[in-house]
Amino acid sequence: MPAPLIAVLPGDGIGPEVVRAAVDVLRTVRPDCEYVPCEVGAGPLLASGKALPEETRAICERASAILFGAVGGLQFDGKPLEERPEWALLSMRREFELYANVRPVQVFPGLEHASSLKPDLVAGLDLIVLRELTGGVYYGQHRYERAPKRHAFDELKYDEDEVRRIARFGFELAANRRKKLTSVDKLNVIATSRLWREIVDEVAGEFPDVSVEHILVDAAAMHLVREPKRFDVIVTENMFGDILSDEAAMLTGSLGNLPSASIGTKTTPHGKFGLYEPISGTAPDIAGKGIANPTAAILSAALLCRYSLSDSESAARIERAVAHAFEDGVRTADIAGTGRPVSTAEFAAAVRASLGEAPIGV
Ligand code: IPM
Ligand code: MG
Repeated sequence: MPAPLIAVLPGDGIGPEVVRAAVDVLRTVRPDCEYVPCEVGAGPLLASGKALPEETRAICERASAILFGAVGGLQFDGKPLEERPEWALLSMRREFELYANVRPVQVFPGLEHASSLKPDLVAGLDLIVLRELTGGVYYGQHRYERAPKRHAFDELKYDEDEVRRIARFGFELAANRRKKLTSVDKLNVIATSRLWREIVDEVAGEFPDVSVEHILVDAAAMHLVREPKRFDVIVTENMFGDILSDEAAMLTGSLGNLPSASIGTKTTPHGKFGLYEPISGTAPDIAGKGIANPTAAILSAALLCRYSLSDSESAARIERAVAHAFEDGVRTADIAGTGRPVSTAEFAAAVRASLGEAPIGV
C-alpha cells in the first residue's frame, strides 16, 4: 500500500503557524506519511483569483486527509461569499461531501481555571458538538440587491436524506459514549426544524439504547453556560452548530483549544477521508507573532490519525502528550493567565518532548 498522502493547507492568518506546529507533532508519530503543502485562501485568491487553486484541489482529491489551517481576511469584508477566501473551505466541504463535522469539547486537567465559567462547572467536561456541514443556509442561494431599496435574501433548506445521515452519525457517536443525544433545532419558528425533529425521531427507533432529547437552539445556548456537563453529543444543523461550537470552545478556556474533523462518505485504503481543522479561524490580531495556541491544530492532527489513518494509537499518543504539556504548566498566551506564556513553537516542542517520553505501543 502506498504511504498515506496528507494535503497540508495552512491558509491565512495564524493558519501557517498552528499548522506548522501540528505537522511537527504529526511527523513525529507518523514519519511514514507524505506531507504535501498546498496553497489556499487569500494568497492564491489575490494572486490568481482562485481561493482554491486547481492544483490544490487535485492534490486533495488524491490525499487520504487534509490538514487545514484557516482562511479569511479583513480586506474581503463586504464581498460576496464566492469572492472570499472562505469559499475555498465551503467548496471543499461540499465537493468532498464532508457532511459530519465532529467538534470534541474537552477540558484538560489543569485548565479548569482558564474557562470563563466557574471551574467546578467545567472540570472533566467532555462533550461533542456534531455539526451538519454541507447543507442549510450556507449552501442556499444568497442575494444582495440594491433596488428599489437595499435588500437581501438567504435560503435555508434541508432534505430528509441530509438530516437522516447526520442524525445516524450522531446516534452512532452517542452509542459509543454516554448514550445521550441532544438534537438542537428551532422548531417553534422554522420549517427545516420540523423536518429535522421528525427525522431525528425516526432514526431514534434504530438506536433504542441511546436516549434522545430535543431542545431549542436558544435554550441550548443557555444550558451550555448553565450546566455544560448535562450534554454528551449535541447534533445540530450547519449554522446553529457554527455558533454553538464557538460558545462551547470557550468553556475550555480558548477558541484555540478546539479541534475538528469533517468526514463524509468517501474512504481511502487508509480510512475515512476527512478534513481536519482548528475551529478558531485566522485570528488576524495575533497572526504572524508566533504566539497563537496550536492546541486545536495539534488535536486536529490526532483526529486525522484516528479517522483517516485508522490509527487510534497515534491519536491517543498525541492527545496524551498535549495533556502532559498542560499538566506541566505549558501555556500559550490565551490561557496563561498571570503565568509566563510560551510561543506556538515552544508549545509544539513541549508536546513533542512528551511524545518522546510516552511509552510506545500503549
Ligand atoms: C468554522 C468557521 C467557518 C464556518 C467559516 C470560516 C466559513 O467559522 O469552521 O466554524 O462558518 O463554517
Ligand atoms: Mg465557526
